[in-house]
Amino acid sequence: METEPVRILVHGASGRMGRALLRLAAADPRLVVTAAASRSGVAPADVRSDARWLTGARLADAPEFDVAIDFSLPDAFDAVLAACVARGVALVSGTTGLADAQLAALDAAAQRIPLVWAANYSLGVAVLAELVRQAAQALPGWDADIVEAHHVHKKDAPSGTALALGRAVAAGRGREPHYASLRAGDIVGEHTVQLTGPGERLELVHRATDRDVFARGALEVAVRLRGRAPGRHALGALLFAS
Ligand SMILES: NC(=O)c1ccc[n+]([C@@H]2O[C@H](COP(=O)([O-])OP(=O)(O)OC[C@H]3O[C@@H](n4cnc5c(N)ncnc54)[C@H](OP(=O)(O)O)[C@@H]3O)[C@@H](O)[C@H]2O)c1
Repeated sequence: METEPVRILVHGASGRMGRALLRLAAADPRLVVTAAASRSGVAPADVRSDARWLTGARLADAPEFDVAIDFSLPDAFDAVLAACVARGVALVSGTTGLADAQLAALDAAAQRIPLVWAANYSLGVAVLAELVRQAAQALPGWDADIVEAHHVHKKDAPSGTALALGRAVAAGRGREPHYASLRAGDIVGEHTVQLTGPGERLELVHRATDRDVFARGALEVAVRLRGRAPGRHALGALLFAS
């Protein structure tokens, strides 16, 4: 059994998610953050971190790490994927809005390294996706709509989580739902899957009120991914395995 802490590179370390990852990792004895990357490569004045900071263009200079955790932007994703493949280390990514070619590159990289990509690292959404699949299967003729709401800084729409829930709808009833997106204030993340039949409506809702749920899930996956065989590992299988 491994006793050494898992060495982490946080990619997107100065962002909203990156800051939560640095704070929670510092309080977890199973983890040590050895490297932090951002566009600027400089730690923000209000972030305390002993990690070595680098720009996304200089990941080759990073000290050794076992797992990269990436919550950045689609533009920055190719570099962290390439760095992980070059070093033969694991990748946990939550960056949303990736292009189809980037998702294909992710699948190709999974032949060489263990990795997880998930649109949402919360336990509640993992359970919601299963409930949605069952409901859509039981009510195949009803209208299906997904309404998602996020803070005004979120760039992609519909959210990656909405699209993942849409795939659960399609898995249940064979057709994609319609999507609606709201961007307002500081909403962390809300998803409503609405199934509407004649005279009745079923709503399945998840509300995240604290960004820490995503960071906590990603850190847990990083611990569980170390030492795994190459492949694209499923979030649910890793999180729910005892
Ligand atoms: N899967 C999930 O559970 C989940 C949950 C929440 C968010 N997300 C996703 O995670 C991503 C980040 O969200 P956020 O709210 O933290 O965004 P954010 O606050 O805008 O932070 C983006 C981070 O990426 C960095 N970055 C930008 N370009 C870069 C580059 N070329 N190389 C290296 N780093 C670069 C930024 O650095 P600078 O500060 O130097 O610009 C910053 O640290 C988004 O795709 C979001 O949708 C996923």
